[in-house]
Amino acid sequence: MGNSSKNLSELLAYGVEQIKEINPSFMKVLEREYQRQKSVLMMVASCSIVPPSVLACTGMPAVNITAEGYPHVRYHAGCEEMDKIEELAISNAKKIFKAAYANVQSHSATTANEIVTYSLVRPGGLIMGMNLTSGGHLTHGASVSYSGSDFQVVRYGLDENYLIDYDKIEELALQHRPKMIICGTTAYCRKIDFKRFREIADKVGAYLLADISHIAGLVIADLHESPIDYAHITTTCTHKQLAGPRGGLILSGKDAKRKLFDEDMTLEEKLQKAVFPFFQGAPIMNQIAAKAISFDIAASEGFKKTMQRIVDSAKILAEHLQNIGFDVISGGTDNHIVLVDLASKNISGDVAERALEECGIIVNRNSVPNKKINGKNTSKRPAGIRIGTNNMAQRKMSADAVKKCAYIIADVLNHIHGDNLEDFKIDDTVKSDVLHKVSELCKEYPIPGYETNY
Ligand SMILES: Cc1ncc(COP(=O)(O)O)c(C=O)c1O
Repeated sequence: MGNSSKNLSELLAYGVEQIKEINPSFMKVLEREYQRQKSVLMMVASCSIVPPSVLACTGMPAVNITAEGYPHVRYHAGCEEMDKIEELAISNAKKIFKAAYANVQSHSATTANEIVTYSLVRPGGLIMGMNLTSGGHLTHGASVSYSGSDFQVVRYGLDENYLIDYDKIEELALQHRPKMIICGTTAYCRKIDFKRFREIADKVGAYLLADISHIAGLVIADLHESPIDYAHITTTCTHKQLAGPRGGLILSGKDAKRKLFDEDMTLEEKLQKAVFPFFQGAPIMNQIAAKAISFDIAASEGFKKTMQRIVDSAKILAEHLQNIGFDVISGGTDNHIVLVDLASKNISGDVAERALEECGIIVNRNSVPNKKINGKNTSKRPAGIRIGTNNMAQRKMSADAVKKCAYIIADVLNHIHGDNLEDFKIDDTVKSDVLHKVSELCKEYPIPGYETNY
């Protein structure tokens, strides 16, 4: 194969052969990871499995091209096809989100939020966002992130029913008058009222940033209200529900062509300059190609059906976990997330996460607002777990299979002995029974595209 001219499929296959030659043991790591993903129940709410077409795009020779700038205004020659790739990604993004403006170059949602926050607020300015323990993201004002160290922050939380308290947010906004309000969450299982957030932002003359990283797919499928025309700016990552490559996306709706509050330029002009050249250099063109294809898929009927299955599965999971005696935060879910409060079972989230992993079920530990376990509710030892249904829906699991998942999760959690990572144990019989059931479920519902040897 060495000297012959290769088409793209041959090139990718040759690349895999080369990895084997260059570093065989590393190839084994990559292979094991691929097999692991197929053989576990992936229930981490913040990811999906990318289809093979998206995977292939990330390996395309577009990676070789430096294309600083934007389509038709590049700072390098040889970008004709790059322009087409980026234009397709932009037009697809606008189409699926019904947006007036899209910038597809941000390297991640964190970067997208950083770009928006620094360019519209400026360091030292006041932002308002949900606190981490209530389900906000690091970039929404957490002290360990740029957002909480370079900006002043007013943080809001949830009410006693674990719901966003809009009246309280309005009161805080009127009192502090932030320059930007951030809504959107990383661990909230109810719908978000973007219209109300905009009304609050308008009352205090703030920009509204909606970060829909977790629910972007539901928004596209009309299973959650869209923030596009309510928020001044909407950001999302492209790798959670969108099942695209790791990356970010910045969108705007009816405000895109409006002048900024304090500068003589439109919002979209500001954002274009903020992405490049202010914060980033050359875009990652293979990643943008993969975004374009994942947006094509997101426009399909099949994608809408997957999103419906995500919501249906989460409801089934929440309902059955509650029937078996687990506390589900807010009593259920409207999206893909089921937050389980383990405080009443006296199990700490880190032990639950590890125990489930040992049985082939992958979730993540999560803090539960106002709950402590052994006196703690930290990110390392939180009082709960977060379960997500994106991957179960991608595997096309039936309602019965999802119900089975609820029962095996409960089985593991009910048979943990010990409360720290070093010496907890799961009953051996339960562990082998659950491992067997996980294996059966994974075989019955393989990841589409990953099951076939091409
Ligand atoms: C709401 C929200 N915003 C932003 C991010 C960050 O995404 P990325 O990994 O693309 O930086 C996350 C990731 O978990 C998230 O949940």
